[in-house]
Amino acid sequence: MDEFETRLKEAQPLLWCNPSYQPDGDDEARAGLARAVADWAELAPLIAALWPETSGTIRSDLRSGAAAGLGDALWIKCDHDLPVAGSVKARGGLFEVLVTARTQARAAGLLSPDGDIATLAKPEARAFFAQRRIAVGSTGNLGLSVGIAARALGYQTTVHMSHDAKAWKVQRLRDLGVEVVQHDSDYSAAVAAARNIAANDPLTHFVDDEASELLFRGYSAAARELQRQLAKAGIEIGPDRPLVLYLPCGIGGAPGGIAYGARAVFGPDVHAFFMEPVQAPSALVQMRAGLARATDVYEVGLSNRTEADGMAVATMSGLVAHAMHTRLAGVITVDDDRLLCDLARMADHGFRLEPSAASGFAGPAMLETTEEGRAFLARHLTPEAARNIVHLVWTTGGAFVPEDQYQDFIVRGRKISKHLQDRS
Ligand SMILES: Cc1ncc(COP(=O)(O)O)c(C=O)c1O
Repeated sequence: MDEFETRLKEAQPLLWCNPSYQPDGDDEARAGLARAVADWAELAPLIAALWPETSGTIRSDLRSGAAAGLGDALWIKCDHDLPVAGSVKARGGLFEVLVTARTQARAAGLLSPDGDIATLAKPEARAFFAQRRIAVGSTGNLGLSVGIAARALGYQTTVHMSHDAKAWKVQRLRDLGVEVVQHDSDYSAAVAAARNIAANDPLTHFVDDEASELLFRGYSAAARELQRQLAKAGIEIGPDRPLVLYLPCGIGGAPGGIAYGARAVFGPDVHAFFMEPVQAPSALVQMRAGLARATDVYEVGLSNRTEADGMAVATMSGLVAHAMHTRLAGVITVDDDRLLCDLARMADHGFRLEPSAASGFAGPAMLETTEEGRAFLARHLTPEAARNIVHLVWTTGGAFVPEDQYQDFIVRGRKISKHLQDRS
């Protein structure tokens, strides 16, 4: 066993560089992003009809890290505050449900190719969707976003959840009229069970988190939004000013889709790192093993137990593993104590994060201070570019966390911070 593998098995925070990574322009990603942006634009009148507060776009703020005492080289993309579903999953889940509704309505002659898509929010369309079902497996946030969108259109909706799903997410879904099936298993097993059940029902559309191109496409459009926001902030990404993304990763769909879209926009000048819990680095173990065989975190003796419920995933999506083979810069792992400390620290600056969403803050120091990170910088960036990195932490969820649980996270985070300070 090499030294890296020992540290991985011991659940130490680490940075892994993808040996197959090739920063480059990306025609395929450009075509994918163009399609995603066009689809979102077409859905906008329906989104505005269902959720008037959005004016038809699902977008989040970009904020400077300076506002949180983190310096002006760091930026925060605030998907923890995304409208409608309160997490990055709004970008994928809403997209897949609404595109599916559009497809079904067109196939049934309810919507003509140039018809007004906003009519899908009307009672006649609701009656049509009420005879159909949307099903999904979820650790929580995907279920929330799919459940909210599907119920808004009138679909019957089933969400299959893993044992680590938080009780408040289950309750919130039930309050929306979603049928919640709680599995006594981990996420991958819950998804597999859900897929089998859905396969036997022709009126059910299954949102397959392990293999969905629609989810992936939905997430990817975030890159266009980011491009506009960076430009507005006067930041021009280029060879001497590269962008490094720190993206919380569970099964890989959300960070993979965003990284793919970012390649389309920024080409060789963006480098995407996935952030994963030390006990659940599903992308790290899969990408490190290569594409020839599927593997999971149990195989290296890790538990998949983490406070970051959105990232408690043992097996990476095969679709994303393929898409990211040459596009992923690397993976950085972070322990739960660090997540809670960062959650508490960001709370002091008005950022309401759940543990998964705090994972990106550990990224920049890992890139700049570890041996692997420094080797990455030396290999891919000029010294000038390395000094001018725009670090972008994607905060992916938290707005909906109930107040008592949020306060509990903060108390725990502060205690851990104090303990660490006392020790040093
Ligand atoms: C808050 C949060 N961040 C990140 C992720 C990771 O997304 P994915 O599982 O698509 O990799 C999730 C997934 O549910 C999440 O809930």
